Amino acid sequence: MAFLKKYLLPILMVFLAYYYYSAHEEFRPEMLQGKKVIVTGASKGIGREMAYHLAKMGAHVVLTARSREALQKVVSRCLELGAASAHYIAGNMEDMPFAEQFVAEAGKLMGGIDVLILNHVLYTPLTFFHGEINMVRKAMEVNFHSFVVLSVAALPMLKQSNGSIAVVSSLAGKIPYPLVAPYSASKFALDGFFSSIRKEFVVSKVNVSISLCVLGLIDTDTARKAVEGVYEGYASPKEDCALEIIKGTALRQEEVYYDHSPWTLLLLGNPGRKIMEFLTVRSIQWDRVKSN
Ligand SMILES: NC(=O)c1ccc[n+]([C@@H]2O[C@H](COP(=O)([O-])OP(=O)(O)OC[C@H]3O[C@@H](n4cnc5c(N)ncnc54)[C@H](OP(=O)(O)O)[C@@H]3O)[C@@H](O)[C@H]2O)c1
Repeated sequence: MAFLKKYLLPILMVFLAYYYYSAHEEFRPEMLQGKKVIVTGASKGIGREMAYHLAKMGAHVVLTARSREALQKVVSRCLELGAASAHYIAGNMEDMPFAEQFVAEAGKLMGGIDVLILNHVLYTPLTFFHGEINMVRKAMEVNFHSFVVLSVAALPMLKQSNGSIAVVSSLAGKIPYPLVAPYSASKFALDGFFSSIRKEFVVSKVNVSISLCVLGLIDTDTARKAVEGVYEGYASPKEDCALEIIKGTALRQEEVYYDHSPWTLLLLGNPGRKIMEFLTVRSIQWDRVKSN
């Protein structure tokens, strides 16, 4: 009975509150009007589609990727579509000093940052792992380390705006995918890091939301080529996927699931993990940590 009172009832109340409040929120495109948004990996694929949606919603955008020419075209199209402003800064996310400078420059161009969308990716070849350590290192650098560097650099501005971070991940970051071990590891790392600091933000009253976006197969050129002849699953449309990421981020959802299968959210929602997280957070002596 004591266990029921101490643990199960609070857990039940948290879940009820979560479902009650989340059910009443609705996305409106005006939520992004005039917002200052960074999109990484915006030269093609889902990132480019996010830039176009944001432009139509009247946001300011600063885009990045390595291909200058492609970015130039995306920026021009964003201005045609109604972006409040649109700029690009080309560079490589293997280069951490670039990642830091990029955020500083983007902040200057827009006069702050409301939303940081971390989306760029190094796809690793679909193959058995035969000890390619360099591939693991590179995947961790581009897909994980640079996401952390960009977030750290943007955090002071995001704190000022009570802003949001979208972390674009994958089903391969929730369940281990064979044949893409380095990619899968880098996406799991995103969950570990960003879900941990989300908890710290709650305790330290940092009003910056973090949305981990868990995507199934999407019909981008890169993904199609990567899985060709190996995986025959349905690829969902990138335009829709991009919009769902923006919606979930604007609504400050902790996790955004986008996959063609309705079972994905149900199976990966993982109530067991949520209960364990709740219990772990409760058992930490936060005051002692803060005073150290
Ligand atoms: N498509 C899918 O099926 C799928 C499934 C699950 C998750 N996701 C996730 O969704 C996100 C977008 O995927 P996508 O399919 O749209 O990818 P994509 O079409 O290949 O686009 C990747 C973007 O990242 C940029 N990029 C790659 N390496 C970079 C580097 N070293 N430095 C800076 N920018 C770099 C690319 O531009 P440049 O080449 O010009 O640098 C491009 O703009 C990724 O995080 C991916 O993991 C996708």
